[in-house]
Amino acid sequence: MPNTLNVGIVGTGIFARDRHLPSYQEMPEHFRVTAAFNRTRSKAEAFAEVAEISKDKVYDNLDEILADESISFIDALLPAQFNATTVVKCVAANKPVILEKPIAATIAQAREIVKIAETTSVPVGIAENWLFLEVAKTVKKYLPKIGPLSAFTYNSTGPFIFHNKYLATSWRKNPEHIGGFLSDGGVHQLAFLVDILGEVHSVSAHTKQVRPQSGTDDVVFSTVRMKKNDLIGTFTYGSAFGSCEKSVFLKVYGLNGSLLVNLSEKRAPKVTVIIGDSAEADAKTEEFTVKEDGSFGVNAEFLNFYEAVSKKDKSLVKGSPRIAFHHLAIVAAFLESSAKNGDNVVIENP
Ligand SMILES: NC(=O)c1ccc[n+]([C@@H]2O[C@H](COP(=O)([O-])OP(=O)(O)OC[C@H]3O[C@@H](n4cnc5c(N)ncnc54)[C@H](OP(=O)(O)O)[C@@H]3O)[C@@H](O)[C@H]2O)c1
Repeated sequence: MPNTLNVGIVGTGIFARDRHLPSYQEMPEHFRVTAAFNRTRSKAEAFAEVAEISKDKVYDNLDEILADESISFIDALLPAQFNATTVVKCVAANKPVILEKPIAATIAQAREIVKIAETTSVPVGIAENWLFLEVAKTVKKYLPKIGPLSAFTYNSTGPFIFHNKYLATSWRKNPEHIGGFLSDGGVHQLAFLVDILGEVHSVSAHTKQVRPQSGTDDVVFSTVRMKKNDLIGTFTYGSAFGSCEKSVFLKVYGLNGSLLVNLSEKRAPKVTVIIGDSAEADAKTEEFTVKEDGSFGVNAEFLNFYEAVSKKDKSLVKGSPRIAFHHLAIVAAFLESSAKNGDNVVIENP
């Protein structure tokens, strides 16, 4: 029997209710949600009822929930501009903390989080669930078969949804986090891409705002140079368009073939591998459909944080602040490049 960890939720909004709570409840041997704090208390009380948290464990501020010694770690789901101050307080209270992506609202805040996380023994994690997709294992297994890699194209595009529950949140309508939806959703795509192909060296990009509702630029079209293997590619992201198919894919080209991972159907991503060195080759095609669970990586992410907290070993955290910094820094580089009419911009280090 694993040791059950008590979770304190900070920010009992949409994603806390719709995904984090169900994920913890699906793993009762590992987690018990025992306390909550939300800026608007009534929402924390409603959450506590669903989560079966006792009334005396609904707290009125971060200091109170941190003072509860029975809580093993904090799970914070806040607008990104509150992440840095939350990390400062959690680490000062010696309480491990996992915070929802993006790591922070600005590069300066993200840098502060990396610095704190790297000078404490307290585990600090950024919840980037796309680092935990099952399909990535299949991609990594077959990528070496297509030979030295030359180039790639990443595309995540879709139609605008007027009645999107996330769009209705005030902090997304008036984003303090750089890039608005470009960092909100874009860091997911970049987490997946970087996990598979390695870090980005530099970008040339054009961004623009397609929908007034997005608050800021919501679309990026870019060319990208990776740090390793002289790999070049394109990265396209935006869900602000008129009617179109939702299309999420990564296609990688090698000297001995190509690999396409199609994430458009989230529960059943497909990987297509074509082996052959040219048009004249007797090319062989293999196709795989991978099953993702309904949490789309969140359960695996929580189990990873569980390991780090239980073993008191922050090095086990896969979504470390340093890793998540890179994803936000790429978004920052897109915006800077676009502001300079597409000039090449090198990604900042923490
Ligand atoms: N991994 C994913 O796929 C995914 C999906 C969705 C969201 N997320 C992340 O989850 C987090 C929450 O997003 P959400 O969609 O659940 O948004 P949400 O429903 O607006 O939740 C945000 C929560 O933060 C609280 N809050 C706002 N300002 C605050 C302040 N000044 N001090 C303390 N608390 C404050 C809100 O409290 P009030 O009730 O008082 O407004 C609310 O409970 C974000 O970081 C987002 O990026 C991740």
